[in-house]
Amino acid sequence: MTESVENWDSVAEWWFDEVQEDPVYREDIGPMLEKLMIGVPEPLLELGCGEGQWLRRFGRGRKAIGTDASLSLLRGVDGEAPLVQGVLPEVGWIRSGAIGTAVSVFVLDLIEDHQRFIAETARIVRAGGALVVIINHPAFTAPDSGPFMDPDLDVFWRWGDYLEDGRSDVPAGTGTVTMYHRPTATLLTAAAEAGWSLEEMIEAPLGPAAIEREPSYGGQESIPRFLGVRWRR
Ligand SMILES: C[S@@+](CC[C@H](N)C(=O)[O-])C[C@H]1O[C@@H](n2cnc3c(N)ncnc32)[C@H](O)[C@@H]1O
Repeated sequence: MTESVENWDSVAEWWFDEVQEDPVYREDIGPMLEKLMIGVPEPLLELGCGEGQWLRRFGRGRKAIGTDASLSLLRGVDGEAPLVQGVLPEVGWIRSGAIGTAVSVFVLDLIEDHQRFIAETARIVRAGGALVVIINHPAFTAPDSGPFMDPDLDVFWRWGDYLEDGRSDVPAGTGTVTMYHRPTATLLTAAAEAGWSLEEMIEAPLGPAAIEREPSYGGQESIPRFLGVRWRR
């Protein structure tokens, strides 16, 4: 198993709390995902479903399957969706063309081999199906990127090593998880090479409620924080 997957089992308790306590999932990510999921075909496969917040929201009453590497998180999923413990980007257990829509939220930036993830989703999703991905925006995941304030107290974003592939260990509860950075162009080109057609792309900042709650986010209203994409096969 890779380092990041081991870490996720050991930070499972933190993630359970995070989903409950951080309103960003409800306020910002839920509406973005809802928009990207409009009209996508079943069956749905959620890659890296964690404790199941999106299976609860989008899987009920639909044909849906979840997969995740962390058994501790999968044990927390309530609902009817069949669950498979597996380490991405390997999905060799799924027949080619068996899936209508593959969806993955805050997972692709935890996967070292993004090309395999993108190619494997193209294999398992049937023609006319979709791939929906939300990740932290690459402007945010670039090593050494971050906000800075000029003497007039205007907030700017430092790009850091945006143009290079990179990785960083980010705090998660009492541990860390490894996050993989790729420039947006690298992700879009890999998807095009795998046969995915870009249908919708959303770049979004932290929402106003999140910025109001946390004064240190002030001034980041125009800075990309999340990236959401729907591709079609
Ligand atoms: C940030 S959480 C997101 C969970 C869920 N998608 C959500 O938005 O609530 C990341 C999830 O990816 C899973 N994960 C990380 N690396 C993985 C890998 N290589 N294979 C399968 N799951 C992985 C973790 O166990 C965790 O559940």
